[in-house]
Parts: sequence; structure tokens; C-alpha cells
Amino acid sequence: MRIRLVKQFMDKETVEAVIQALQNERAVMGESVFKFEEELARYFGVKYAVTTSSGTHALQFALIAVGVRAGKKVVTTPYSFIATANSVIHAGGIPVFADVREDTYNLDPNKIPETLDKDVSAILPVHLFGYPADMDEICSIAEDLGLAVIEDACQAHGAVYKGRKVGGIGDAGCLSFYPTKNMSVFGDGGAVLTNDDEIAETVRKLRDCGRRSRYVHDMIGYTARLNTINAVIGRIQLKHLDEWNEQRRRIAEKYNKLLSDIDELLLPPRGDHGIKPVYHLYTIRTERRDELKKWLEESGIECGVYYPLPIHLQPIYRKLFNYHEGLYPISEKLSETCLSIPIHPFLKDDEVNYVCEKIHEFFDKNR
Ligand SMILES: Cc1ncc(COP(=O)(O)O)c(C=O)c1O
Repeated sequence: MRIRLVKQFMDKETVEAVIQALQNERAVMGESVFKFEEELARYFGVKYAVTTSSGTHALQFALIAVGVRAGKKVVTTPYSFIATANSVIHAGGIPVFADVREDTYNLDPNKIPETLDKDVSAILPVHLFGYPADMDEICSIAEDLGLAVIEDACQAHGAVYKGRKVGGIGDAGCLSFYPTKNMSVFGDGGAVLTNDDEIAETVRKLRDCGRRSRYVHDMIGYTARLNTINAVIGRIQLKHLDEWNEQRRRIAEKYNKLLSDIDELLLPPRGDHGIKPVYHLYTIRTERRDELKKWLEESGIECGVYYPLPIHLQPIYRKLFNYHEGLYPISEKLSETCLSIPIHPFLKDDEVNYVCEKIHEFFDKNR
């Protein structure tokens, strides 16, 4: 048996829609881009969705749009994909880290106050692995101090926090459509979600060469639009998103049930009190992570380590900011113990059973 960590979706409807667009639409800024944006805004319950060429650009543009610039700091988590912090630097700002909660892997609101000074202008929580961050607490800190909140929802399409979809709660939320995400566009892509007219307008300009009109530019912008073909695919995937997320939650429940009796294993946070995760990844924790990974891979089960190094310990961050071990101990511990096992909407029950059997075998033989 060979079990993949993630699986890409492609069907006849997608192929036909792509051909149709190739024959009839403009390659850049075709009508499918605008339709996709309308559908995203409706799905996420926001006024605007502005697509971009990647999640990193979405984050960068959202940060610029809320006023992040040279000398301004943005508080975020060191336990995320590096693009989260990079986007702050791309916007001209300085990322400042607060450690995460050990039970949710997300930014710990209690650790935010110690990072705050007069230069902080925004907070950038990440809904890591599809589990919503503590938005009430984060937004309340931000509101008291007049800070912006930009959500990194790049791994959390459709996750719900107290009745609202994440990405639509802060001043702006950002999505990535990279192929491994809960929905994708068969290539790179991203979007900024917002209810704010000015943020939407600024992001629209930034992604499109700073254009006010065709050859009149009032900002230094980028060429960072979503291509029409990618929007065509995104529209189809968005229609499947709820059903796929439901399937992920069902698989997660099965893992929870079949793995809960292993004492040496910590399972991912479950949804409750209005929190509905979307299990972008199903991430377990064990002190024997590397051994278990090797064992599972030898058994034909693909696994992933997200992330083997927290952002502050990445070579470039050590070099730029003099970061070192011990600064964010929970993130460091998670990096050493986390292991993501296969989860995607097309995973079959017998595959889930096989993964669980192999995990049981590992702990039984090593007892
Ligand atoms: C948490 C997080 N933030 C940001 C990004 C950046 O998105 P992209 O790869 O589309 O630039 C990703 C995805 O790769 C991500 O997982």
C-alpha cells in the first residue's frame, strides 16, 4: 500500500472549463477572475475578495494596506510557514514573535502583551493546520491599542470561529491556493478578504502595477494577479470546499477514535464551543517523531514535518535578527515532536485503518 499525504483534485468539469476559458477569455484579468472574487466574498461572508498570485502577496498587500511600512512591527507566530513572517518584511516591516499555545499550536494571546511597544501596528495570527486562532482575545488586544488584525487563513479555508468563517474576522484575511491547500487553483494563487473599501482598493492596485486606470499609476505596485485559468479552477474547487472539509473532519474523527488509546501520542485539538477546524493537516505529536516517521514511510505511508524549524531559527532569521534557541520554547518543542499523517478528502477508510494499525504496531513493538 502507498498512501499519499495530500492528493490533488482534477475532474472532467475542470478540464472542460479550462478549455472553454482558453478559447474564450483573456489570459489575464478574464471574467472568471472577477466571478471567482464574487464567489469567494459570498462564501467567506465579506464585502470583497481580491485575488493575487500567491498567499504571500496577499499577506504583503494586506499588511501594506493597513499601514505597515518601514520601522513598523507586526506581532506574529514563529510556528508557521516562513511566508507568514516574510510577508511582514516584504511589506517593509519587522516581524516580532510571540510564542504559541501548546494545545492549539496557534498564537498565544497571553504572550502578545510582552511584545507590544509604540512601533507595533498590527497582529498577524495564523489559523495553523486549519484550526482557528483565538480571535476574540486577539481582536480585543488590537482594538484596545488601535492595531490592525490581518488573519493568515492560508491553511484554513472554511474553518469556523464562533459562527464566522476565519479570514473574514479581522481587518483583512489572506488565503493561499497553493496546490496542497484545502482548495487550490492548480498553481500558485491567493486572495485578500475584507469588508473595508480602502483595503480592497489598495490591494487591487498593488497586485496590478499600482494602476488607477490603464496607464495611470498612483502606487508602486506589482505584477501579482491571479491568472484567469487558475481562477477557473478555483471556482470549481470552491463549490466542493464544504463537502471536502466535511470529509476531512470525518477522517479526523476516525483518527481520533483509533489513536486515542496510545498514551505516547498527542492528538490535534478538536473543535468545540463554536470552533470548527478544517484539518488542513492532521498533526500528531510524539517524542519519537523521527523514528515513527521512518517506520511509517517504510510502510508506504507518506508523512510530513510541519515545521522542522520554527521561523526564528531559520538561518536567514538568525542572521537578520540574531535569534537563537530557547526564545520561543513551545514552538521549538512542537518543531521537534510534530508529525502530520495523511489527510485529504479522497482518503479511504481502509487507508485510515492501515495508518492507524501501523502507528499502533510502532508503539507496541517499542513498548
Ligand atoms: C500559513 C501559511 N502562510 C502563508 C503561506 C503562503 O502562501 P503561498 O505559498 O501561496 O505564497 C502559506 C502557504 O504556503 C501558509 O501555509
